[in-house]
Amino acid sequence: MWGSFASRYHARLDPGRRRAGVSSQPGLRAVHDDIERVLISPEEIRAGIERVAGEVTHTYRGTDFTVVGVLKGSCVFVSDLIRAVPIPLELAFLSASSYRDGTTSGRLDLSFFPAEGEIAGKRLLLVDDILDTGRTMQALVDTLMERGALDVKTCVFLDKPSRRLAAIQPDFRAFAVEDLFVVGYGLDFAGRYRNLPYVGALRPALYASAAPARG
Ligand code: IMP
Ligand code: MG
Repeated sequence: MWGSFASRYHARLDPGRRRAGVSSQPGLRAVHDDIERVLISPEEIRAGIERVAGEVTHTYRGTDFTVVGVLKGSCVFVSDLIRAVPIPLELAFLSASSYRDGTTSGRLDLSFFPAEGEIAGKRLLLVDDILDTGRTMQALVDTLMERGALDVKTCVFLDKPSRRLAAIQPDFRAFAVEDLFVVGYGLDFAGRYRNLPYVGALRPALYASAAPARG
């Protein structure tokens, strides 16, 4: 009985979801059910992280540096990334949201920030889930430099270059994506879907009536 449900369920999935090993327990609503298609599978994510981790390692070998994760979106990426970087590093987090208020600066709300001793005189690698308009990252880089960082580089899991409004490019990026709202692997919609092990596109009906949460 379970077997036949599983094969019927599997038959509903598109090839991308099947490749990603997506399945859910019968009778339980799973986050996977809200995904229209998988854009980046867990295997592709692993390969992308290995590549970026190699670049980060090459850049910082022999140098003290601190990885600064931007909460909440970077939590999944940063934890996989640091485990693929085999050189000494320190880890810090900050929490920020910037308003899309029509200005080019974008006002930054810092609800949580590292202590001054973790910034001043340090080489920082700022890690976020996605570089979209770039306003958040630009404001964070400026703020960290103002607070005395020696150097700030940026690393993002996803880059949406077509949406850029601020003059910033990531120093490291795992993947470039088209202009499409995506969820999973840390990226949320209205606070949910961060726990998907792949990057996917939501069924359009789900976000037709709501606005995404920030962070
Ligand atoms: P921006 O670069 O200042 O426009 O903002 C980047 C932030 O917007 C990210 O850290 C995410 O929290 C959010 N964001 C932008 N695009 C997406 C998306 O496609 N899915 C989920 N969150 C997104
Ligand atoms: Mg974010």
